[in-house]
Amino acid sequence: MKKVVYIASECVPFIKTGGLADVVGTLPKVFDKKNYDVRVIIPNYLCIPEKFRSKMSYITHFYMDMDWKQLYVGIMYLEYEGVKFYFIDNEYYFNGFTPYGDVKWDIEKFCYFSKAALSCLPAIGFQPDIIHCHDWQSGMVPVYLKTLFASNPFYSGMKSVMTIHNLQFQGRWDIKTIKAYSGLPDYVFTPDKLEINKDASMLKGGLVYADKITTVSNTYAQEIQTAYYGEGLNGLLSARHEDLWGIVNGIDYDIWNPATDPLITKNYSGKAWKKAKTENKKKLQEIMGLPVDEKQFVIGLVSRLTDQKGLDLIDCIMNDICQDGVQFIIIGTGDPKYENMFRYYQGIHPAKVSANIYYDEAKSHMLYAGCDVMLVPSRFEPCGLTQLMALRYGTPPIVRETGGLKDTVQPYNEFEQTGTGFSFANYNAHELLSVINYAKCVYYDHREQWNSLVDRALQQNYSWGESAKIYQDLYNCLCPWIQ
Ligand code: ADP
Ligand code: GLC
Repeated sequence: MKKVVYIASECVPFIKTGGLADVVGTLPKVFDKKNYDVRVIIPNYLCIPEKFRSKMSYITHFYMDMDWKQLYVGIMYLEYEGVKFYFIDNEYYFNGFTPYGDVKWDIEKFCYFSKAALSCLPAIGFQPDIIHCHDWQSGMVPVYLKTLFASNPFYSGMKSVMTIHNLQFQGRWDIKTIKAYSGLPDYVFTPDKLEINKDASMLKGGLVYADKITTVSNTYAQEIQTAYYGEGLNGLLSARHEDLWGIVNGIDYDIWNPATDPLITKNYSGKAWKKAKTENKKKLQEIMGLPVDEKQFVIGLVSRLTDQKGLDLIDCIMNDICQDGVQFIIIGTGDPKYENMFRYYQGIHPAKVSANIYYDEAKSHMLYAGCDVMLVPSRFEPCGLTQLMALRYGTPPIVRETGGLKDTVQPYNEFEQTGTGFSFANYNAHELLSVINYAKCVYYDHREQWNSLVDRALQQNYSWGESAKIYQDLYNCLCPWIQ
């Protein structure tokens, strides 16, 4: 039996701001329980819904040395859908309406969290063989493991994995501050360890000290070894390329299932999708405040509204997109400049654009099911889940050929009648516009081909099965002696 603990800052169904939560919440469920005991540690944010918080049980608490301070660490516990979840409790750090806020405060908070997550293992009586860390918020865990915890026999022989979901966020601040927050010794703050251009990077720490590194698609694993995508860490990642695995994400096929999804208007499966998708489209148009007309070509976008997501390209061509026969529905929150941009376009094209500037899981299901194409024109995209959800609902994605988008969407080829979506290569608004117009032309003028494209999208399988096997290979590779 291999024992693995996931340490992360978010996890469905408890707390989510993006795809990281989907991965941390669904991957542990798919391992075979006879051979893998996978548990999860996340913070006990006050903003976790009360329906979960009220079911948690208190395990214990202790005080942890952090530099010169003694900090409270409470441990709460909840078993959910067969997985054991532990929540690090400290109201000083984990209050507030969202998991993240001010960057400097987040850095202090996640230094505390990383050390607390490691420190709580003896208290919960779980001695993992592998500690699997996700993104910068748990980047300090491998560093602590190999430094301050190295002489403690409880931790000896434990292996660590660092998974990069997004290299852009690193938990980076000046060395003096991070040294004080983390209580780590001077010798880790050198350019071959945590230092990056005179600052310290918590993610870099994880990438230097972890035994293996993974990221969430093969293409992103290659891209981050180049200067354009490498965020200053491409040298390190190239040097460690033999330890760097690209493993594409899956999605939870039980939750995201057009045949059973209770959140959509009409369920569908196999080849019998046409009438149901039309019903879903009409309901979607109604609730999103657009004219109800099944003939419209409806473009969907569900996204964090940040520079990563290619929204400046949309800004350049929005008036060209909003031609006859097209509607555009956005659900997203994030950077005010993009929130206001979409509100503005809704203002000038009220019958064509519906800007829903909020986070709404239920409406996102209706959008995946009811629109005709899903737009994901990202500047970079480690994996991307919205294109996988779109494929699952028979909605061809329009993507830029980068990261996981490139690995999961095969571009439509009208000559061979292959492909599951549409794609463009360069980060250029007119390339995006021409591919949107091409998709629109196939939709309106070549309906049979369009229908086969939807059939092929529906036949794709991006459940966790295959990727979970690769994670098992990785764990076997780290601890081959444990069956
Ligand atoms: P990222 O993690 O970079 O935000 P992903 O594509 O990996 O991108 O994951 C995004 C996840 O968040 C998907 O599950 C998507 O449906 C969801 N999501 C993003 N914005 C919203 C929103 N405003 N309302 C509902 N779900 C959203
Ligand atoms: C990150 C990436 C996204 C990926 C997700 C889950 O937020 O931006 O591409 O799908 O993590 O791995």
